[in-house]
Amino acid sequence: MSEVIHDKNSNDELQGEDPSRRDFIYIATGAAAAAGGAALIWPMVNQMGPAADTLAVGSIEIDLSKVDEGQQLKVLWRGKPVFVRHRTAKEIAEAEAVDVSKLRDPQTDEERLRPNMDGKLDPKYLVMVGVCTHFGCIPVGEAGEYDGWYCPCHASHYDTAGRIRKGPAPKNLEVPEYTYLKPTRIKVG
Ligand code: FES
Repeated sequence: MSEVIHDKNSNDELQGEDPSRRDFIYIATGAAAAAGGAALIWPMVNQMGPAADTLAVGSIEIDLSKVDEGQQLKVLWRGKPVFVRHRTAKEIAEAEAVDVSKLRDPQTDEERLRPNMDGKLDPKYLVMVGVCTHFGCIPVGEAGEYDGWYCPCHASHYDTAGRIRKGPAPKNLEVPEYTYLKPTRIKVG
């Protein structure tokens, strides 16, 4: 069973924007639900977690049709949050306009997408592990200097493709292994 919680980001005051813009839906699959607090640290290595073979086979299916344009789902997968963002045309245009050669972790927007059933990329949907690549905090959506994600722990700014643009994080937000099962349904893992 999935639980849907309308969650309001607790880091609004850091960005000085209208808080309602960054509301998102949190979906916890299974029994494990965790609040997405802005300063919550996600352990990079969870030694008390399931055995490696259990983690290896864990997969979840996500119905993308439930994510309206401009919204983000947060789904728990293998003990980590996965962000599914339905990007706006503006966010896609911003991501595609970036000069990749200037990036710390150079990747085009297309390289961060996976093909849909017809073999084509659908830039609307961005799927990422929602764990900062610095020390594992959970970044805040629709925040930061690049309109993407902002990690309040040590001020890392990610753009609308989840690429690191400013701050101490060394890498882009990770894109998990996932495939499309239907045009609006993916399997992660
Ligand atoms: S954990 Fe995100 S900037 Fe340090």
